[in-house]
Amino acid sequence: MNAEPRRVEHLQTDKGNVPVYTTTVVEQPWGSYTRDDHATWATLFKRQRDLLTHRACREFLANQQRFGMTPDAIPKFDELNRVLKQATGWQLVGVEGLLPELTFFEHLANRRFPVTWWIRRPEQIDYICEPDLFHDLFGHVPLLLEPLFADYMQAYGAGGVKAHGVGPEALVNLTRLYWYTVEFGLIRQDDGLRIYGSGIVSSKGESIHSLESPSPNRLGFDLMRIMRTRYRIDTYQKTYFVIEGFGQLMRATEPDFTPHYAALAAQESIPAGAVLAGDQVYQRGTGEGWSSDGDV
Ligand code: PHE
Ligand code: CO
Repeated sequence: MNAEPRRVEHLQTDKGNVPVYTTTVVEQPWGSYTRDDHATWATLFKRQRDLLTHRACREFLANQQRFGMTPDAIPKFDELNRVLKQATGWQLVGVEGLLPELTFFEHLANRRFPVTWWIRRPEQIDYICEPDLFHDLFGHVPLLLEPLFADYMQAYGAGGVKAHGVGPEALVNLTRLYWYTVEFGLIRQDDGLRIYGSGIVSSKGESIHSLESPSPNRLGFDLMRIMRTRYRIDTYQKTYFVIEGFGQLMRATEPDFTPHYAALAAQESIPAGAVLAGDQVYQRGTGEGWSSDGDV
């Protein structure tokens, strides 16, 4: 009855890579993982854990331990779900690849987090252009145990369903918010800037680049500014936005976005690497003050 889940990836055509979408929800075929698959998990897990010890936010590190994730084997969704259910009511569901936007939002709005069941191939260890099990599980799942963040994710999903009804421009605005928070967010903690974005924690290069490189901008979280800011998906980010705590995300995004979308429709988008007058600029790697006059 249940066919083996498929592994849905982008297509390579003469026009470049074309994303492929799928809505199927699948059981995690845990028994079908090969020794290579578990070895890929082990390699990535150890490498990122070491790198993230003093780079990821404390909630990410503590929650990953609370799940009992180890390098020994690819975790079982069922076991993670037992912990999640009790803590925040979230549940992981297995998927075959990228979901269409509305399907993705509906899962989040119902506290279901879609996790790609398959892991990247050995030759994709350092870079893969779409989410795989390592990115989804290692990167996203730990913060679903954090009550404020868990609520934010659900509210985002509900907001996505709504934005979908408003129109494509509203969706572009809202997607930027996901990108600059859930995927590439930084947070200021007692001992300095730390990572909470899943796209950063699942990447060796970006874990270092986001905190240590002198080149990217690190700007204070600003909802409307973020929703106007373009991004690149194929290079390290030129700009990261820094929150002061997960409560700030909730408070800033609680109001109805309908008037925001109307206001944004009349405004130009901002290039990924721009720094504007009025941006709060954080100094690299320190928890100390920022200047608000746009200088670095
Ligand atoms: N409050 C937003 C709205 O009305 C929904 C939302 C919540 C969006 C949290 C993003 C994050 O559309
Ligand atoms: Co992701």
